[in-house]
Amino acid sequence: QTLESGQFQWSAPSNIALVKYWGKKADQIPANPSVSFTLNNCKTITKLAFEKKNNTDKFSFDLLFEGKPKEDFKPKIQKFFERIEIYLPFLKDYHFTIDTRNTFPHSSGIASSASGMAALAMNMMSLERALNPEMTEDYFYQKASLLARLGSGSACRSVKGEVVVWGNQANIEGSSDLFGVEFPYAIHENFKNYQDTILLVDKGEKQVSSTVGHDLMHNHPFAERRFEQAHENLNKLIGIFENGNLEEFIKIVESEALTLHAMMMTSMPYFILMKPNTLEIINKIWKFRAESLIPVCFTLDAGANVHVLYPNTHKETVLQFIKDELVVFCQNGQYLCDEIGNGSQLI
Ligand code: PMV
Repeated sequence: QTLESGQFQWSAPSNIALVKYWGKKADQIPANPSVSFTLNNCKTITKLAFEKKNNTDKFSFDLLFEGKPKEDFKPKIQKFFERIEIYLPFLKDYHFTIDTRNTFPHSSGIASSASGMAALAMNMMSLERALNPEMTEDYFYQKASLLARLGSGSACRSVKGEVVVWGNQANIEGSSDLFGVEFPYAIHENFKNYQDTILLVDKGEKQVSSTVGHDLMHNHPFAERRFEQAHENLNKLIGIFENGNLEEFIKIVESEALTLHAMMMTSMPYFILMKPNTLEIINKIWKFRAESLIPVCFTLDAGANVHVLYPNTHKETVLQFIKDELVVFCQNGQYLCDEIGNGSQLI
């Protein structure tokens, strides 16, 4: 089968980890399993146009961001192509134009690598399917997640919804270090349409890239214990997803966020990625939770922004609290409302 030219377009969402991936082995194999909520509104939309070329000696692609040339992502994409070539041997037969945009404001401090790499991987799988139509849906999504992982580890959790596990965990059937899988067991209705309001505390450049961050777990004094703890926390979450115990959910999610930051504070070199306003927000959330008894909690990525997680049933009250008490700690008062979503989509 040969194809002269064509194009595809996919969207893929961001995701927020509950048990954090921090530390990896060679070939983007995670040092511990992680689990995330797939988001719904914060998405990357990527159009992949392809055209057969004559020479097949090197990769050839143009990168556009919102329709305009974007040179600074080229090395990252070049590296991605090099990593995935063994899985997609036709890559050098084509010239690609990759046109990307995000539904969230750029330089919001929201990492677009998960949604961006997932959207690109989906497009690549569409091309592979056009060339080799005989593949199952399962194969298609599994391989898309595997490719996304090679772009950015956490991207493999953005292919599917709503709760995705990545990394081998003995008691989660089908879980793998190679790709993300939908959480295979019952999920209590307390988690239905779970909300994530992202408070943009600091929109600046990341102080530590995640590549550097993962590397800091090599020879980290607490690494081995941390990796075990991730297994333990994921194990506890299996039961919590089933019984809907939000008090226990909160303990694990907040502890995971603080542990991620503790790993950065205790590595060499060490980093503090929270800002004073991050701590102000955490304290306000704790006070609000104690007073209102509403099960709202926070989580953090490798930065200062705060994800506020809460059940859909308390949406109005929590949003009012956020507006009244938390928005003052956000840069330019900015925050993004999101919720659990279904994963990537062909457009
Ligand atoms: O996918 P990476 O290499 O950018 O790593 C992301 C790591 C965290 O966002 C901090 C945690 C996670 O599991 O998403």
